[in-house]
Amino acid sequence: MERFIRSKDFLVKLMANVTSAVYILDPSYRIVSVNKPFRALFGLDIKEDFEDYNGNILGCSFAVENDFKCLKAGDCVKCSIHGAFEKALKEKKSTYKNILERTFYIKNQPVRKTLQFTVKPIEYDNAVFVMVIVDDITELVEANSKKDQLLGMIAHDLRNPLSALTGFIDLLFYPSNLESSEKTMNILNLLRNVAVHMNNLIDDILDFNVIESGNLKLNPERGDYKKLITSMVEINRLISSKKNIIIELDYQTDIDEFSFDELKISQVINNLLSNAVKYSPYGRHVRVTVTSDKGFVVTSVRDQGPGIPEKDLENIFIPFFKSSSRPTGGESSTGLGLAIVKTLVEAHSGRIEVSSRSGTGSEFTVYLPV
Ligand SMILES: Nc1ncnc2c1ncn2[C@@H]1O[C@H](COP(=O)(O)OP(=O)(O)O)[C@@H](O)[C@H]1O
Ligand SMILES: [Mg+2]
Repeated sequence: MERFIRSKDFLVKLMANVTSAVYILDPSYRIVSVNKPFRALFGLDIKEDFEDYNGNILGCSFAVENDFKCLKAGDCVKCSIHGAFEKALKEKKSTYKNILERTFYIKNQPVRKTLQFTVKPIEYDNAVFVMVIVDDITELVEANSKKDQLLGMIAHDLRNPLSALTGFIDLLFYPSNLESSEKTMNILNLLRNVAVHMNNLIDDILDFNVIESGNLKLNPERGDYKKLITSMVEINRLISSKKNIIIELDYQTDIDEFSFDELKISQVINNLLSNAVKYSPYGRHVRVTVTSDKGFVVTSVRDQGPGIPEKDLENIFIPFFKSSSRPTGGESSTGLGLAIVKTLVEAHSGRIEVSSRSGTGSEFTVYLPV
């Protein structure tokens, strides 16, 4: 033991050069040495000295919540790390990549973490110690499950239009459907709509992916905001006229030039306008108003559609969230549009607000700093 303590200096130097959290456990499950990443991971001050059992220093919820010493709480028999320590101490065997998903109390705050432990026996001076390497894989696991979720949604959302495509193509094999050009055109139109729908879906997913991967780059330049709004309104009028929906534009401010990313802000306005048209019943009005207020250009898009129930308002910007309102003209819906809009607006140091009640229409307001 004494020689172990004497050589501790060397050990500490060695462990300091490892990027993973590393610690040494003595045969009674007390932690006798840790490195800097360990202190960072479990929220211990750099200089803080301690002498306690494994789970108590790690802040394991089994020990902390019941005010037990590690291995003495009822749940400890279920602890896979306990088993790994036993194996190291009694059988002198290493175990690799034990996954532990649990709540840890870090600086007295409960935090859910997924940790990966590698446990190795170290024989020294007729005693067995345990070297433990801990990697925090919480973010990795979360990112992986998000990707799985995204993949599941993409597969689900593409399956319906794909089977519709196959169905419409099958119709073209019937000679009777090719007899009149009107019948053929009908089927071709349906085919085209489904393809457009799938295209929109892929566009949203790709945009969302750029944002999620942290690769969103703005390219702000001084631009003519009035021109941008006018052209977005005109483009959407082409679509809204099919539903007899009138889009009015009321540009009330003198400010027309300021710095913004033209492509991204076009996407923002287009998303809000297309939502207003998409969810409104035929024959309603959509009003776009641009004003200025305390250093911001304020753009609001108001519709006379079904509105959004109050309970959904706080979720409306969450990726993939869809409220009870459904498209009135068979348009596609991914639940990604507003999540993208919010990120793009905030990347411009702006903000977006929504006010709506079921049955009275919705109003989305974007504040962009000038
Ligand atoms: N103007 C609106 N009127 C009513 N409901 C809306 C409006 N805009 C958005 N929503 C609701 O919010 C949900 C999320 O919108 P969004 O993120 O743009 O996705 P998407 O339009 O692809 O479904 C929509 O599914 C819809 O239920
Ligand atoms: Mg949308």
